Amino acid sequence: MSEELAVFDGNPAVTASRPSWPIWDDREVTALREILESGTWGTNGTRTTAFAAEYAERHDAEHGVMVTNGTIAIRVALEAVGVEPGDEVIVPPYTFVATASAVLQSNAVPVFADIESDSMCLDPNAVEEQITDRTSAVIPVHLGGRPADLEGLKDVCEPHDIAIVEDCAQAHGSWLDGEALGTIGDAGCFSFQSSKNINAGEGGLILTNDDDIYTQAWSIANVGRIPDGEWYEHAVLGSNYRVTEFQAAILQAQMTRMDEQLERRQRSADVLDDGLAGVDGIRPQSRHPKTTSRGYHLYPIQFDPDKLAGVDKATFMEAARAEGVPVGGGYNPLYSQELFTEIEERAPAVVALAETIPDYANVECPVTERLSKTGGWMAQTVLLGDDEYIEQIVAGYEKIVANAEQLVAEAA
Ligand SMILES: Cc1ncc(COP(=O)(O)O)c(C=O)c1O
Repeated sequence: MSEELAVFDGNPAVTASRPSWPIWDDREVTALREILESGTWGTNGTRTTAFAAEYAERHDAEHGVMVTNGTIAIRVALEAVGVEPGDEVIVPPYTFVATASAVLQSNAVPVFADIESDSMCLDPNAVEEQITDRTSAVIPVHLGGRPADLEGLKDVCEPHDIAIVEDCAQAHGSWLDGEALGTIGDAGCFSFQSSKNINAGEGGLILTNDDDIYTQAWSIANVGRIPDGEWYEHAVLGSNYRVTEFQAAILQAQMTRMDEQLERRQRSADVLDDGLAGVDGIRPQSRHPKTTSRGYHLYPIQFDPDKLAGVDKATFMEAARAEGVPVGGGYNPLYSQELFTEIEERAPAVVALAETIPDYANVECPVTERLSKTGGWMAQTVLLGDDEYIEQIVAGYEKIVANAEQLVAEAA
């Protein structure tokens, strides 16, 4: 047995402090002041367009369309790739609600397919099982910036002409085999909400290499106007999903730190992977072998109760936090949320349009179920810490594993 666990009044393993977030300096102050003093705060400004182009260029994409947030980015992208009311869209259940609620808001039906245990991302085999003649899109979520199996998904989707809309809310700066996430499917949807690696408080963006998808997405986000069209010319049903010049200015400033932060987070992930390789019972999310760069938004882990005296999640998490290990609890399966189990009442318009609605209360995704009971993650801000901090975190996990018997015995 090693040193006393902090949860039993021992000394916490982590003594270094967690980096603060958001990060800003004179770059943000100057950029915001410029917008303020210019008097051009919104619609007629050029910063938003400039940022969308810069972001597209950074990811080697043809086009970028800025929108109010990541949820709207998914909704607009779905409509732009041709998802129609009543269509089915396959999504993973281990994700933030927006991946699936954006589908409902497009009047389409979310169909859940399970994830892979190691990658924690959508399993192409599970997707294949859910395809029907009503499936028009699949939304892989690159959980924590880890690329989903896009190659496998393309093999499954292409023969059926099913669009791939990548949920890149957590994948800023992730590249797979020389291509940026968000540019491999038909469209990629990013979020600039305050916890995200590139942060404007709120904001979203769609990347695409397809001229038609771009035009459609731009129009939907700009009250149905046409790029290069007249101001009062409205071709499609759109809304006002624009952001302000202030947000674009903040984003331009945040981007100046992107490379240095990417590098720091990757370095921390290397230290964690190395350290946890020696901790039997705690397993990090697997790496995609073809990852060229990974924009870590999360560092997901799962513990193995069989190796940790049968510990349950609440006990494990409490012990970890007492050690100062900043681990969060992870997602619950989306299909078990009331939004889905009570779908008839919560989304009647979709139910009316759909040919069939899944029996959400009885969806079976065993990998997701297990992960929701044994998984968690550390946020990107943790990964901005120095090596000493990250090594202390590894020591915290080691301590819990070494003392698992006592932890479980005393919790009983
Ligand atoms: C996987 C995922 N998809 C979509 C979103 C939605 O983004 P937003 O909060 O900007 O609407 C988020 C973020 O919150 C997310 O984590």
